[in-house]
Amino acid sequence: MKILITGGAGYVGSVLTNVALGNGHNVRVIDSLYFDSKVPLIHLSNPNYEFFRLDMSESDNIAPLLEGVDYIIHTAAIVGEPASNKFPELTEKTNYMAAKEIVGLAAKQGVKGFIFLSTCSNYGITEGLAREDGVLKPLSLYADTKVRVEKLLMEGAPGIDWVICRMSTVYGASPRMRFDLTVNDFAMNAYRKRYLDVFLPYTYRPYIHVYDAARVIMTMVEQFGKVRNNVFNVGFNGENYQKIKIADIVKQFISDLKIDVVEKGTDLRDYQVDFTKLEQYLGMKNTFTVKDGVREVVDMLSLGIIGDPDADIYYNTKPRLENPVAH
Ligand SMILES: NC(=O)c1ccc[n+]([C@@H]2O[C@H](COP(=O)([O-])OP(=O)(O)OC[C@H]3O[C@@H](n4cnc5c(N)ncnc54)[C@H](O)[C@@H]3O)[C@@H](O)[C@H]2O)c1
Repeated sequence: MKILITGGAGYVGSVLTNVALGNGHNVRVIDSLYFDSKVPLIHLSNPNYEFFRLDMSESDNIAPLLEGVDYIIHTAAIVGEPASNKFPELTEKTNYMAAKEIVGLAAKQGVKGFIFLSTCSNYGITEGLAREDGVLKPLSLYADTKVRVEKLLMEGAPGIDWVICRMSTVYGASPRMRFDLTVNDFAMNAYRKRYLDVFLPYTYRPYIHVYDAARVIMTMVEQFGKVRNNVFNVGFNGENYQKIKIADIVKQFISDLKIDVVEKGTDLRDYQVDFTKLEQYLGMKNTFTVKDGVREVVDMLSLGIIGDPDADIYYNTKPRLENPVAH
């Protein structure tokens, strides 16, 4: 089948692209390369891969690329609360307006399914485990735009089937690395500085390895009939962690790590999530845990695979925003 992946050079999108190609699909990627990603290089000689460096907010760019596409996996966005706070207008244009436009175009083209990457951040603060029918309390513009796209799909975007994936916070090695995600950030800073400040240490969040995330999303495409028109929390029961627990896992690799607990913080999100529905529908288990992700980050630094983890390309608050269309 032909799959269009928006944001296919991103942190999740690049691993997803690998999995899709590995499973024998035709993959068309649209990405503006905001983070100077070199991910497409490895695939350019693959006849099953097409890459378009485009701004997806320009609908004239997108319409012709939907031809012949069976499924769209929509990952492209301004991702994370800090980035959305820094670029509110761009966030609105990218995360809401462009998604709405693409859903409309996809419906017109007869695309079979639209898989939307949303976030468990939509739950904001929970008491107990949040299920898919639980109350949403978006605490940032980022989550708010995701909730609005969800609503658009659930209220019946004309003529298109969809799946909403409320993703856990992702970790682990990806060709487009991010060090602004909790597990990766803690492991990277602990390795380099030998100390960690842990803000609001007892707040919870669910975590998923980037490869497991890609596997789940691809399974949804391949078994679309089973999952269509459903919302799923994407993660695994047993993978909700307090931040202090992540720091403790990091300490297993860096024994001289000093951890400072700071009871205050600006990120008030505190949510635990139930993943039973995903398990019931697809019967999938995680192949990795947070400990594996920490090991991967320590390896990539100790082996010198990533020389300068402070470089802009690893942080979503530092996109390259010049005209992304290649000449
Ligand atoms: N990483 C996580 O922990 C996490 C957690 C929950 C949900 N998600 C969701 O998963 C998706 C992917 O996240 P990620 O971590 O891979 O982020 P990312 O920032 O690494 O990837 C996003 C990609 O989209 C591209 N992009 C942005 N605007 C574009 C535009 N206008 N036109 C074309 N391309 C554009 C960027 O260049 C980038 O390559 C997002 O929708 C995000 O909300 C991620």
